[in-house]
Amino acid sequence: MTQVLRPIKDIFDPASYPDLLVGLTDPDDAAVWRLSDEQAVVLTTDFFTPVVDTPYEYGAIAAANSLSDVYAMGGKPFLALNIAALPDNLPAEISSEILRGGAEKAREAGVVIAGGHTVNDKEPKYGLVAIGFVHPQRIISKGGLKAGDVLILTKPLGGGVTTTAVKQEKADTAHVAEAIEWMSRLNKIASELAVEFGVRGGTDITGFGFLGHAMEMAEASGVSLQIDFAKLPFLSGARGYAEKGIFPGGAFDNKNYFEASVTFAEHLDEPSQMLMFDPQTSGGLLFGLARGKLSAFETRAQELNQPYWVVGEAREGQGIEVR
Ligand code: CO
Ligand code: CO
Repeated sequence: MTQVLRPIKDIFDPASYPDLLVGLTDPDDAAVWRLSDEQAVVLTTDFFTPVVDTPYEYGAIAAANSLSDVYAMGGKPFLALNIAALPDNLPAEISSEILRGGAEKAREAGVVIAGGHTVNDKEPKYGLVAIGFVHPQRIISKGGLKAGDVLILTKPLGGGVTTTAVKQEKADTAHVAEAIEWMSRLNKIASELAVEFGVRGGTDITGFGFLGHAMEMAEASGVSLQIDFAKLPFLSGARGYAEKGIFPGGAFDNKNYFEASVTFAEHLDEPSQMLMFDPQTSGGLLFGLARGKLSAFETRAQELNQPYWVVGEAREGQGIEVR
């Protein structure tokens, strides 16, 4: 991805776009453009092939995932467009269920979908272009972690192994329902909480898996991360599928790419390690919270019914240690 985007950087000199606060220099979840000292817009797009068999849920998950990159920046999305690629032979009621799932999820987020574009393609693809507002001084970025921050994760891991089990027709229906529920969930309240508590370093967990996205933040922030494996939340079926080796190809790519920067405690077996590289779709936010704010944060999260797990901390140094 970084290499594909390389030519953009050769053509657009960051110095020529002083209002582009996030975009060309350090890769992040979304681009941010300053409108004034008080207001900036956050812009992102994302789309992918079906992760589940049911068209309505696929649409809802794709929309939640697209909006998540606005939430990951601390932004409030308000407007979106559909992007869809749909096969000629796909029954109209399936196409409309995908779009309805996306639209109802957007409406739940307080976002209006005002149009979009659809092309024919062999494999369905769906997602959104989304735009939101953020205060230019309250942007959450991958580079904003500070040594001493505690790390908060807001959704369980294991979505990749579970949806791979679905594709291989080896998934338990209860596990699938659980995965769908989490993937459809908006990161809206999690983001609002992070902004309320002055969080500056954060991202959402998607294709690079927990450790890949954690590593991006560690590098961008110039800190090391210590992760407590026992504190990481997983979907109910994840461990079982991992033990059967039901991983998507991306999990192995992530492992190859990131493992050199990670030290695992000896007791962590191969399935445990691989689960931390498992690519997620519409995963939770991972952010750093000043330790002194943790108890107030916990009270507020419980008031708002926002699930969260304290999974580790940021320290001086580099790399990731999982104990
Ligand atoms: Co993201
Ligand atoms: Co994204």
